Amino acid sequence: MTDDAATEAPVLRKAASEDAPGMLRVLEAAFGRWPAFELTATPLEHLQWKLTELQADTPFGNWVVTVGSEIVGVRMHWFAPVRVGDLEYDGDTGADVAVHPGWQGRGIGRLLVAERDRVVAEARQVTIETPSRSAQLLHLNDVPDHVLRPLLVWERPFAPAALLRQHARAQRWGTLPRDAWRTFGPQHARLISGPARLEQMAMFDERSDALWEVAGRQFDVARTRAAAFMNWRYIDRRSGDAVVLGAVEDGRLLGFGVFKRDGAVGNVLDLMVDPGQPEVARQLVVAGSERLRRLGAKRAVCWLTEGHPLEPELARSGFAPVGTATLDLQRRDRSPAAAMAVIEAPETRMHVTMGDFDFV
Ligand SMILES: CC(C)(COP(=O)(O)OP(=O)(O)OC[C@H]1O[C@@H](n2cnc3c(N)ncnc32)[C@H](O)[C@@H]1OP(=O)(O)O)[C@@H](O)C(=O)NCCC(=O)NCCS
Repeated sequence: MTDDAATEAPVLRKAASEDAPGMLRVLEAAFGRWPAFELTATPLEHLQWKLTELQADTPFGNWVVTVGSEIVGVRMHWFAPVRVGDLEYDGDTGADVAVHPGWQGRGIGRLLVAERDRVVAEARQVTIETPSRSAQLLHLNDVPDHVLRPLLVWERPFAPAALLRQHARAQRWGTLPRDAWRTFGPQHARLISGPARLEQMAMFDERSDALWEVAGRQFDVARTRAAAFMNWRYIDRRSGDAVVLGAVEDGRLLGFGVFKRDGAVGNVLDLMVDPGQPEVARQLVVAGSERLRRLGAKRAVCWLTEGHPLEPELARSGFAPVGTATLDLQRRDRSPAAAMAVIEAPETRMHVTMGDFDFV
């Protein structure tokens, strides 16, 4: 910090792409390691990906606080429309919030959060979040009410010892023979070669838009999986090193799955199949798990909302529920009432996957 900077007032403004190096300095100082997951792109490339125009021209955008010429605070958002019933709303997922350690505790975090809330109040916003682990951020976030929903965490071990550990943790010995068969049985090898043809997808395109039109209709609430967003989220290698598999029959996309390894864990980031062909989900997750295993993962993990139509297919693919994560849909003062009524109804069918968040 320079003497000049110490005497100047903090200024909040929208972030521009040339701010990336200064923003990265703040993120790395505040978080230690940023991003928190493995990727082959550099942290600067990853940040430039997050600052893309697709995100900048949204009602929320990305923000910095400067003191003099120094960037000292960062707030990013992740935007994509969310479909609720037949309507689309501005969908927001909070991404990184950080203040440089040398500037923390002086109200800069509050400035970043308050300005964001002012802007968001003008938008028709639906928030998709997981609850923050930062007590300070929770204190700063002025959310009047949290609508919490459980997400089931499913796991598929890749080695018999890991399956035994899973059963020991849950004290679920009775289902061990069945689960061992489901996980390691020879049926999976056959499945990879049928019923559809699997291909590594180089792009999401009109075929995936057509699939979303049909498959998305199964749900009352889901982030719109339009090709432009999906290409930014999963195909752009600066986002991370995802394996995107498509299941194709007669030129039609019947389903896709997105898989990404992070250390010993292989995550299923996204999964969508034609509702008339649920077995394609099994083919995708079995083939995707095999890719994750070969990349060095020890187990595959998948999040789905409870009661999701693909639960039986996951169970048949050797996945078992091992716990829950929490989805936070946040009721703000100006949240659109019609959307919140759908979101809060207990029977609402939601499609939320791990890839809806920025920590993977
Ligand atoms: C979280 C963070 C952005 C806050 O920035 P900041 O500039 O230090 O925040 P401010 O000075 O505006 O405000 C701090 C507030 O938190 C409160 N606070 C401090 N420690 C707290 C704690 N452990 N629990 C709850 N509140 C706490 C302070 O009292 C103050 O509230 P007040 O204004 O009502 O008095 C910053 O600490 C940071 O970068 N942390 C590391 C990265 C991180 O964890 N980001 C959040 C997850 S993405």
